[in-house]
Amino acid sequence: MITYEDVTKIFGGGPDAVTALKDVSFEIEKGNLVIFLGPSGCGKTTLLRLTNRLLTLTRGSITVNGQDVMSADPVKLRQSMGYAIQQIGLFPNKTIADNISTVPRLLGWDKKRIQERVDELLSMVQLEPSAFRDRFPAELSGGQQQRIGVARCLAADPEILLMDEPFGAIDPINREEIQNEFLRLQRKLKKTIAFVTHDIHEAIKMGDKIAIFQDGKLVQYDEPETMLAQPKNHYIADFVGADRALKVLGLIHVEEVMDRNPPNVVKHDTMAGDALKFLEEKSFRHLVVLKRGKALGYVHPRQLKHESASVADLAVPYPVKVDADMALKDVMSFMLMHDMRVLAVMDGDGNFAGTVTYDQIQKRILEIYSGEDEKATEENPK
Ligand SMILES: Nc1ncnc2c1ncn2[C@@H]1O[C@H](COP(=O)(O)OP(=O)(O)O)[C@@H](O)[C@H]1O
Ligand SMILES: [Mg+2]
Repeated sequence: MITYEDVTKIFGGGPDAVTALKDVSFEIEKGNLVIFLGPSGCGKTTLLRLTNRLLTLTRGSITVNGQDVMSADPVKLRQSMGYAIQQIGLFPNKTIADNISTVPRLLGWDKKRIQERVDELLSMVQLEPSAFRDRFPAELSGGQQQRIGVARCLAADPEILLMDEPFGAIDPINREEIQNEFLRLQRKLKKTIAFVTHDIHEAIKMGDKIAIFQDGKLVQYDEPETMLAQPKNHYIADFVGADRALKVLGLIHVEEVMDRNPPNVVKHDTMAGDALKFLEEKSFRHLVVLKRGKALGYVHPRQLKHESASVADLAVPYPVKVDADMALKDVMSFMLMHDMRVLAVMDGDGNFAGTVTYDQIQKRILEIYSGEDEKATEENPK
């Protein structure tokens, strides 16, 4: 756990003094990934560098697992935290393997353990170990070098990671993959991570919590969903973006809104005429056709008129597979693309698990955003 209490950092003195951080207080819980977010110059890097004592506090305190960093041995403190810096900072005259294993070597790990660790980390950052371990930094692209920086910060398996825009130089496609890989790893390892970015998408995707800064002050500290749903003032609302309703859909999963026992289902051997009657009686516009627990597809009133076959012969297969873990953003995208307001949800065995509808999604969004306008006005009376 990392605790920041009234953290203040002033660079220089006299008329040229710069207050980089002012009375910042919050806590990073053990095992959480916390994002430091805000525009350039708001103090994110300074806060990281205060945490591992590369900078000295002006006022306030920072404690790591109960220990005040200002009274810790700075070398030990730094070895106990992985640090990936914005400018990457690899040693140009050392191989990739040696760069990655800097801290393990300082800690006296044996050779075999170091080699295994290097290969494991190279794979994690999606670089083929045999192709990369003996190269030098100058032979790598900026994005590849940055991945080495991330591998290096994880090398000695520190409990705490400080990461300063660690994926900023990686191209968008590889960045997406590395973010995913990193999140998978984090779910297993549960490191305590302070992660700087100025990219709102990365923040929402990666963060357990997000701290948004403005001119050295902490403006809001919340979970991503809360940040999107209840921005504290107009600064935060602008920062998270006008499309925040769409962004929040990326955080909610089908299981939160799906209907597990929808009434609009029919068995495959139902005749078209009976199905049509059922639809009209209940004013449904969509029926899921089920056969032995699986969704064969769906039927609409239009398809059933003047037909004498069973619904099994008439059912149109669902164009996409939807499962309970899927983000509503992706479901919504399917709905728009295929012009459908209802989709069937499948469980791990491919069995029908329920339905997800456009109306359910919209209802959830309206619940999340209800009362937001009043809040913004209260905070910033015109
Ligand atoms: N060593 C320094 N000396 C003087 N001013 C500094 C120094 N480092 C950072 N600053 C100033 O502190 C503020 C915060 O900087 P920084 O923490 O690097 O912001 P961020 O990482 O959010 O872009 C900026 O105004 C920056 O110019
Ligand atoms: Mg910075």
